[in-house]
Amino acid sequence: MLKGTFPLEKLKALPTPFYYYNIELLKETLNIVKTEAGKYNYQVHYAVKANANPRILSVIAGSGLGADCVSGGEIEASLKAGFPADKIVFAGVGKADWEIETGLDNDISCFNVESAAELRIINEIAVAKGKVAPIALRINPEVDAHTHAKITTGMKENKFGINLGQLSQVLDILLQMSHVRLTGIHFHIGSQITDLSSFQALAIRSNEIQEELEARGIRVENLNFGGGLGIDYYHPNHLPVATFDNYFAVIHRLLKLREGQQVHFEPGRSIVAQCGSLLSKVLYVKEGETKQFVILDAGFTELIRPAMYDAYHRIENLSSDEAVEVYDVVGPICESSDVFGKEVELNRTRRGDLLALRSAGAYGEVMASQYNCRKLPASCFSDTI
Ligand code: LLP
Repeated sequence: MLKGTFPLEKLKALPTPFYYYNIELLKETLNIVKTEAGKYNYQVHYAVKANANPRILSVIAGSGLGADCVSGGEIEASLKAGFPADKIVFAGVGKADWEIETGLDNDISCFNVESAAELRIINEIAVAKGKVAPIALRINPEVDAHTHAKITTGMKENKFGINLGQLSQVLDILLQMSHVRLTGIHFHIGSQITDLSSFQALAIRSNEIQEELEARGIRVENLNFGGGLGIDYYHPNHLPVATFDNYFAVIHRLLKLREGQQVHFEPGRSIVAQCGSLLSKVLYVKEGETKQFVILDAGFTELIRPAMYDAYHRIENLSSDEAVEVYDVVGPICESSDVFGKEVELNRTRRGDLLALRSAGAYGEVMASQYNCRKLPASCFSDTI
């Protein structure tokens, strides 16, 4: 069974469970993103929500990318990690007043606004501070992302964004306001999108929207296509870097840019997913009547994606090269959804073996919880271990 490369002896000595990050792979991914985006002068803002581990953030900040934040806490973490304020954008359907203030006080580059109600409050707070808030309107483009229902966002019935039918009305309100300035339009249609035709549809829809805006005499400086590029959860060893080349090329081929316009992206998962693995030890191998269970010391408290989205993560037994057997791999949490995988093929597994749950760098550590009074997972890095 082909496995990832891990410094096994060093990892074995650490208390489990913990996240292990391959910093070389992260840096290689960042280089590819920069090269591919650079071909078209596209700006990339890393979606901090995917992984806000301070070390990971500082490596990404060091590569020159911007940050896409969805909370005041993420803005603070990004500034601390070294992202310059003028490369920070702030999105989210429910920005609290203090979060808007944090954005304004730090002169971030853009507020991605999702409703007229929010626009009014940003304007009000900006008036009080004597500042003008740069705004991009998040538009719901009604493009199907063909992904898991819980991570689809671009359709009309989602809570996100301004519906196409209401855009004109929101523009009327915005153009009356003194302390907000429309600088861009923003889209995000969903996550873990592997069918690039969804991005084709998005580029075409954005051309139509630009025409509508121009009919009203509006030309924006920025077009932001959000995140969503999927990764290969099944083959992390063969395909460790997402298809950034095709992704940017698809948009470039179809998008009709106006003079001086800047294109932005907000990838999260595709930057950090493959560099991270959750490492966990086997507590017990339980022989059932029809199955064998591998019971790990990690559960959905450390990695919630399988329980929450039925997500697949490849599982490898790093300690064994014996013949493959079939197991259900589960965690110790007292809930039947605490299952990492059913009928998983693993090299013969015993108590104490070290297992890796792969492709867990995105929405893994950052979504960990303390349910059952468990401790949050630790992290370690390939270049400092
Ligand atoms: N921009 C916006 C406005 C977003 O809402 C998101 C993700 C991104 C960018 C980054 O998307 P990405 O490139 O990572 O697909 N916890 C779920 C994923 C939730 C994604 C939420 N929004 C999971 O574990 O699959």
